[in-house]
Amino acid sequence: MDIDLPIGLVRDGPPLPVQIADAVRDLIARGVLQPGERLPGSRPLADRLGVSRGTVVAGWDQLIAEGYLTTAHGSGTVVNPDLAGVHPGSGSAPASSAGGAVRRPTTGPPELRDVVDLRPGRPDVAAVADSTWRHAWRVAAADPGSGAADPAGLPALRSELAAHLRQMRGLLVSPDELLVTNGARDGLATVLQVLAARRGRLIVAVENPGYPSLRQVPRRLGATVIEVDVDDEGLVVPQLDAVGGRVPDLVMVTPSHQYPMGASMTVTRRLELLDWARRHHAVVVEDDYDSELRYVGAPLPALAALDRRQEPDGERVVTLGSFSKTVTPALGAGFLLLPAGLRAQALALRSDVGPTLSSVVQRALAEYLANGGLRRHTQRMRRAYRRRRNIVTDGLDGIAGVTVRGMDGGLHAVVEWPADTADRHREQLMQQHLSRAGIEVGALSDYWSHSTEGTERQIVRYGLVIGYTAIEEARLVAAVTTIRNQLARHRRG
Ligand SMILES: Cc1ncc(COP(=O)(O)O)c(C=O)c1O
Repeated sequence: MDIDLPIGLVRDGPPLPVQIADAVRDLIARGVLQPGERLPGSRPLADRLGVSRGTVVAGWDQLIAEGYLTTAHGSGTVVNPDLAGVHPGSGSAPASSAGGAVRRPTTGPPELRDVVDLRPGRPDVAAVADSTWRHAWRVAAADPGSGAADPAGLPALRSELAAHLRQMRGLLVSPDELLVTNGARDGLATVLQVLAARRGRLIVAVENPGYPSLRQVPRRLGATVIEVDVDDEGLVVPQLDAVGGRVPDLVMVTPSHQYPMGASMTVTRRLELLDWARRHHAVVVEDDYDSELRYVGAPLPALAALDRRQEPDGERVVTLGSFSKTVTPALGAGFLLLPAGLRAQALALRSDVGPTLSSVVQRALAEYLANGGLRRHTQRMRRAYRRRRNIVTDGLDGIAGVTVRGMDGGLHAVVEWPADTADRHREQLMQQHLSRAGIEVGALSDYWSHSTEGTERQIVRYGLVIGYTAIEEARLVAAVTTIRNQLARHRRG
């Protein structure tokens, strides 16, 4: 389709062809017109501007002479596709690289010609679109559905999710206990809204360190957020009582795989947390974001299972499910497993504000679960990710002065410096060195809340967080070699 050029002409200004050429040059410079894009035909444009066709052609000719435009046989006049070569700095980057920020490193081994993005949280999406996935979308596309959507989510999807929880998490739940969401953050927002409608302004306890995006949700919704330390066994429960006399309404935890340090919450700590929550009428939100991606042993039982053992209908624990790690964050799909006390209100809220996940997407996901596509994809990814994890742990093993945690599961490894040699400066410096070599990694200290930085209790740890899942093995090997060299070279900061 031809672009509708926003050109305005003044009668008492410079000659009309000059004004037209100036206007188009400006549109190119601002990126409104992009390399390769076709200009409107000279006749319709002349009609719209109220000038002769010859005036427009004269303006075009000037820009062709300057190299801004070219004429291509059969496609009329277009913005020069090689504009960057003729007029460097003119116009925006071609649409294909916009947002992707693919920058080429100036140094680094030849295997790393493009930037290697090892920031955490990126599943390998290249393998998602297999025949089962495509079939699921064909099924969904063939039957877009009609009428009002079920506020809890498509019954067929909830049945499949219940089966998924039974097979993957050993959790026996009824589809009526589930609410389809747009991922973990959406699920959390729903729980917070339901609870706030009952209790007013909420106090929410979060793990420190923790997942910054999820921590942001209660903040955005007006809750007071308090950070609670995590040790090797999980959230330090007694700290929940030591937050200035304010009892949290809700506690967010990652029991099966602490984010980002990777430990599993011990059974003792789980029981302690549930007991605390029961005594204080608090809700525990279990962020079960990647338990299926476990490479050592079987996934640990969900906290909800323990809660349900004590109270058949669940009492304290809300489980947040998400397909962001097992499939892709772009799907934006997840679910909530709700205890009886929160279900009716969550459903009423959803009825009023409407579902957050399109029924067409829900139908596709239901089919993908039903045809076994997700199970097979997860098994495939588990094998691939385990290999990539081993490339990182083996490749970075034995460097003096750093500890590498490969984790039992998940999408990243953590490289940590001991507290006495670590600080923010060193971390940033290492990130910069790697960035110069074309490798982007995360900083470990980013997972600690900066609102408490510098306080006495705060024990921030420093190092690198390396996402190893969204990269082919050969490139990962090359990247790990570079990281190893940099770590060894800058051992003393
Ligand atoms: C700790 C943690 N929780 C939850 C999620 C998923 O969040 P969402 O479903 O909102 O994308 C992620 C995703 O990357 C995560 O790292």
